[in-house]
Amino acid sequence: MKIIDVRVNGIKNPLGYHYEYIVCSWKVIETKGIRQENVRIEVSDTKAFTKLIYEKEGKELNQAGERLELSLLPRTAYYVRIQVRTEQEEAVSDIYCFETGKMEEQWEAKWILAEKQDTCHPILFRNFTTRKKVERARLYMTGVGLFETYLNGKLLENEYLAPYLNNYEETIQVITFALEENLKEENTLEILLGNGWYRGLFGLELKKENYGTDLAAIAELHIEYEDGSKEVILTDEQWQYYASDIEDSGIYDGEIINRLLWAGKENKPKSVRVVENSQENSQDNIGNCNLNKAHLIDRISLPVCVQEELPVQEIINTPSGETVLDMGQNFAGYLEFEACLPKGTKVVFDFGEILQDNNFYNKNYRDAKSQFIYIANGEREIVRPHFTYFGFRYVRVSGWHGEIDKSDFVGKVIYSDITRTGYIETGDKRINRLYENTVWGLKSNFIDIPTDCPQRSERLGWTGDAQVFAATASYHMDTRAFFHKYINDLKSEQKILDGGIPNFVPNIGHKQDVGSVWGDAATIIPDTLFRYYGNSSELEYAYPMMCDWIDYITRKDCERGQKYLFNFGFCFGDWLALDGATIDSFKGSTDDAYIASVYYYHSCLLTSKAAEVLGKTEEVVKYKKLADKIKKAILQEYFTPSGRLAIDTQAAYVIALRFEIYIDKQKLIEQFKTRLQKDCNRIKCGFVGAPLLCMALAEIGELELAYDFLLKEGFPGWLYEVDMGATTIWERWNSVLEDGTISPTGMNSLNHYAYGSVMEFVYAYAGGIRSGKNGFKDAVIEPNPDIRLGYVNARYDSVYGTYICNWKIEQDGYVQVYIEIPFDCQANVRLPEYEEESMQLVAGSYRFRYLPKKDFRKPYHLDTTLARLARDRKAMEILRKYVPAIAGIAASGAEEMGATSLRQIFSMHYLPFEPEQLQLAVDELVDLIVTIEE
Ligand code: BGC
Repeated sequence: MKIIDVRVNGIKNPLGYHYEYIVCSWKVIETKGIRQENVRIEVSDTKAFTKLIYEKEGKELNQAGERLELSLLPRTAYYVRIQVRTEQEEAVSDIYCFETGKMEEQWEAKWILAEKQDTCHPILFRNFTTRKKVERARLYMTGVGLFETYLNGKLLENEYLAPYLNNYEETIQVITFALEENLKEENTLEILLGNGWYRGLFGLELKKENYGTDLAAIAELHIEYEDGSKEVILTDEQWQYYASDIEDSGIYDGEIINRLLWAGKENKPKSVRVVENSQENSQDNIGNCNLNKAHLIDRISLPVCVQEELPVQEIINTPSGETVLDMGQNFAGYLEFEACLPKGTKVVFDFGEILQDNNFYNKNYRDAKSQFIYIANGEREIVRPHFTYFGFRYVRVSGWHGEIDKSDFVGKVIYSDITRTGYIETGDKRINRLYENTVWGLKSNFIDIPTDCPQRSERLGWTGDAQVFAATASYHMDTRAFFHKYINDLKSEQKILDGGIPNFVPNIGHKQDVGSVWGDAATIIPDTLFRYYGNSSELEYAYPMMCDWIDYITRKDCERGQKYLFNFGFCFGDWLALDGATIDSFKGSTDDAYIASVYYYHSCLLTSKAAEVLGKTEEVVKYKKLADKIKKAILQEYFTPSGRLAIDTQAAYVIALRFEIYIDKQKLIEQFKTRLQKDCNRIKCGFVGAPLLCMALAEIGELELAYDFLLKEGFPGWLYEVDMGATTIWERWNSVLEDGTISPTGMNSLNHYAYGSVMEFVYAYAGGIRSGKNGFKDAVIEPNPDIRLGYVNARYDSVYGTYICNWKIEQDGYVQVYIEIPFDCQANVRLPEYEEESMQLVAGSYRFRYLPKKDFRKPYHLDTTLARLARDRKAMEILRKYVPAIAGIAASGAEEMGATSLRQIFSMHYLPFEPEQLQLAVDELVDLIVTIEE
């Protein structure tokens, strides 16, 4: 038995974080035990545990997150160990640690900067000596826009783009580094500064200096010697600076490293400028109010790190005579290379996602120059940018000297330091590729904040995108700490808009726009986190934001006489749906006010649910009552008295069903299915409908139809992009047209994760692992085999431990299911076509092999569509034998008829077939065995 993965606030051994609360989680593995009998958490301020400063014990302690009521001191390390006893055995964990930063402690250090006239990317530095043996050394520091810190020439930590993307007007994050291992007798500390989001070109308005005009740093190095003495080295007048070789940098622009920038010019160390009085809220002496020390806060962001490396797959010489590196995968990060180029060589790297006519292309990056330029001085060196990142698969290399060698380059994949938790593999290679594409969508867009895309001149924290993807993201990865940072950002921006949630956060440019679905990130993300991670402290942290969002809408509604509808203001609606005015419209045709009102209702219910978890009885009632009134208003406004939904679009039905707004559920389901059929079972919905479509179908028991959508080939659908060679998820269903040309819409990213949210369905219903009433403490395991997938291996490393559900339809018709349930958890398991009753299974592994009541190898029935039959050679032979005209229709691929079922054909008397013959075909089809390739 082992106790592993002890985390505080979802982070392993956090160093210098801001702790909103202290919640400790752990996992128990390799145990014969099933149940937790006792847990003991011990906290000490010494590694040897000589003195306990906190202990908590009991049978009920929650491994997903137990709150520790500790009052923390600044700059202090706390050691944690956990002992668990099961009914069989007991074990104790290794010692884990969490450490505070400066907390509220006064900053003795001062902000330091280069001289005003120096527009360089400065390197601020100081030499110092340590003559005694160092016991502990901590550097608390930050720099704006972005910083990299070097001790004795070596970069500190794998952190890229610190201090990350914040509303710098309120907070600037302080990063803590442990230095005792690296200090020598003679030391040089250097801080390199770059523009970043703070000062570089960024935001929809394409402005520079969004948060400040000057690059600056502040640092305190606290050294404790073995003899007990202490020393602090501060940023102050003693520091000097010189100019680096970085000529320019920007998140959108890229970076220029010019090794000849100072050739022949003077670049001697100069004294730094020092900011005085920056503790007050007023402006400091350099007129830059953001360098206020009161804004400094211990880090909240996870580090953004180089997580993976990708080799160059191919060097392409394009028809237009250019040289392009193909990395084989679209991703976010940068290119690193080894250079040994003649002095003065200027190499320009341009980044793109797709080739057009086999040539380099990146017009879809809009105003993001996305260029990395290197001017060599003749020395051999490893080169990489410092203060930018790119979203790309292809790199155009211009100006390289001599032959290009693949092995000189490597792609560095960056994303926030989150842990992978979900794994899916199916018998369908294309679904596997789609799955991987959604994981890459996450990796490319979880760069400190959830962004829409990593390449063009946006890369903004669009709330709507984050909201629709949150559930899938939380299957793929442990998102606890990542989304905590985003919730912190949402809260900070919400205050400025008086309860409104801006469309993207941080709200660069202080935009006033607030809209539904996007703003509902305020309720949906906290609710998702609670369902996945069961941490009520996080819910409590987010709860005021949930209420403020609802109260904001309600206040606006009251201003015009309270109609209980959110039918005012702007709403992006069913963004990028295909049922809009034209195929390239931004908006679908589902009524915005209807969507907004349904989300108002949904958010209100989520808030009431959160109030219930938090024991806020009055507010449970308040928000429930409000929700009831909103629902009533929606039913009155958008439904006929007999229960028909008056808005006949896919998205309208999807959200009504998912959020349970109907008069007559059955009637709504029928309407929904009719709509889908009229749409030839082609997806037509956008950001509102598409992420929920398969989930909604699964929830009403229409699994086959859900799979039809997932597996649909051709435009529009998820497999269309896979077949077109996508390695990430596209922003639009038609981002690339069938002839390979990128659609000329001007808003076209090939790396948007929003539609990747279909994976929630794949985990929850195809794999069959989903949360139960108590989240993943008592999961639901209910796989849904379909012969088209053949098998699914699904694994989810939940906050309690690993769930596995692997199913397979064997050649002989037997179904094999393998299930694993983690320690002290249970699952409500329903095996497909097994017994009526579900089983309540406890921790352990289970293997089943049985002959299902229904033969999964015989997938055809009266309601099978012609489109599905058309894909099966044997099925088509049967149709041809009995009803050749129908076979002809099916084979023609005519979309209008593809969604028609055999049952419906019977009533289409105008078609040339004999009903008796069709019946014979049906009889044979229902017995047709479809096999899967082994
Ligand atoms: C972004 C989206 C975002 C949208 C707002 C786009 O430019 O890329 O993903 O949600 O604007 O509708």
